[in-house]
Amino acid sequence: MQIPNLLEAKKRSNQEVFVKTNEYIVKEDLKKLGLGKTYFVKTYGCQMNEHDGENIKAILEDMSFTEIDDMEKADIILLNTCAIRENAHNKVFGYLGRVKHLKEERPDVIAGLCGCMAQEEVVVHEIMQKHQYLDFVFGTHNIHELPSILNNVIETKSQQIQVYSKEGDIIENIPVKRASKYKAWVNIMYGCDKFCTYCIVPYTRGKQRSRKHEDILAEVNCLVKNGYQEVTLLGQNVNAYGKDLKEDYKMENLLEDVAKTGIKRVRFVTSHPWDFTDEMIDVIARYHNIMPYIHLPLQSGSSRILKLMGRKYSKESYLALAHKIKEKIPNCSLTTDIIVGFPGETEQDFQETLSVVNELKYDSAFTFIFSPRVGTPAASMEDNVSLETKEERLQRLNQLVNQYALEANQKYQDQIVPVLLEDVSEKNETMLMGYTDTMKLVNVKADLQYLGSIVNVKITDIKTWSMDGEMVDK
Ligand code: 5AD
Ligand code: SF4
Repeated sequence: MQIPNLLEAKKRSNQEVFVKTNEYIVKEDLKKLGLGKTYFVKTYGCQMNEHDGENIKAILEDMSFTEIDDMEKADIILLNTCAIRENAHNKVFGYLGRVKHLKEERPDVIAGLCGCMAQEEVVVHEIMQKHQYLDFVFGTHNIHELPSILNNVIETKSQQIQVYSKEGDIIENIPVKRASKYKAWVNIMYGCDKFCTYCIVPYTRGKQRSRKHEDILAEVNCLVKNGYQEVTLLGQNVNAYGKDLKEDYKMENLLEDVAKTGIKRVRFVTSHPWDFTDEMIDVIARYHNIMPYIHLPLQSGSSRILKLMGRKYSKESYLALAHKIKEKIPNCSLTTDIIVGFPGETEQDFQETLSVVNELKYDSAFTFIFSPRVGTPAASMEDNVSLETKEERLQRLNQLVNQYALEANQKYQDQIVPVLLEDVSEKNETMLMGYTDTMKLVNVKADLQYLGSIVNVKITDIKTWSMDGEMVDK
């Protein structure tokens, strides 16, 4: 039994991070454990978590379990959770009600919880006290231990809690079952050292650890060989890539080398304005296969609030960076994340946020009400803003964001743009769906044979969050 500890998770040591290439092993006797049995994994949260989900699925398949999309029928149920805001928690605890019910009906079902919530001390204590029916919990640092944890559950028939607060080494041989045959997520770094005062991530994901660029490039080359069209380089804070490595090799070098592999599309998330260098902007502008799409979290437009958030940039420096990006990267789409109702945010502070939105006219924005996370500095800041005010600000902000999102899309009317067709459209089964280079969702009239190709599409109809179009040629 290993329980997470917040103070331990907060520590940053100078201890060297090792890259391990044979740490993940499935013992011979566990390889057939899942024969004839099924699993169901439900993932919440960001792309990093989605990608962890792809690793978890591959591990379960290494043990001969088969994926199933109906939780009610699965032999193993695993919730891969997110801790970023309270409502992510609530969703998971709500879902656990269904899991509990199922375990009463079918006691042989094995149910577990992993991901960022598992890294939280408060959550694990709650599970131990109120959710004894859960068979196992593991964290973000020991996904590779899933086979032995599962085996312990079966052998001991007791609740297994195995969560480390301190990040481990980089483990390079975890298998992956990718959700798409055309686009892939590639981790370039783990963890985050920024410690923005509202954010739980530096505690749930540990200190920043960059993968070796040779390993990243080998993964991308392999994807190219297997016909992949797009990679998204993943990290909590990708611009800081390489700062923890000994050699002088930074995000701009990585972007350039990934572009040179010949993969058709390169994307990356998430950027922090702090580490966004001119060299990076130049590389993005120079390579046609690095997509003109930048997600640049603003969080607040008020320099006073930004300081309280520990973001280390001001309204003015953010604006200067955003304008530079727009100038140097033609047709670049710019999206953002914004938090309203940070402790003590005044109407004046909020107006500053609106003024940035008005100036930059984002292509889209994810907007949130501040949610206090236990153990983070912002959770204990004095907050005199009522929930009513916060909700009202969120509404006003969303109205503005929607207006600019629609305006940005309207520029595409009758244009011909490249779209990577990646799936059948959710809204209309006779259409395909995909994204433009600028990350606009398009539902396309096109033949099924073009699935997985980048095709030219004429945009015929505009909505706020998507567009319709028809394929004109390949
Ligand atoms: N409350 C509200 N939003 C948050 N985010 C991160 N932490 C919190 C929090 N405590 C938002 C930020 C971040 C995005 C992933 O989630 O905007 O960029
Ligand atoms: Fe959280 Fe992003 Fe700040 Fe890191 S940079 S602490 S992940 S908001």
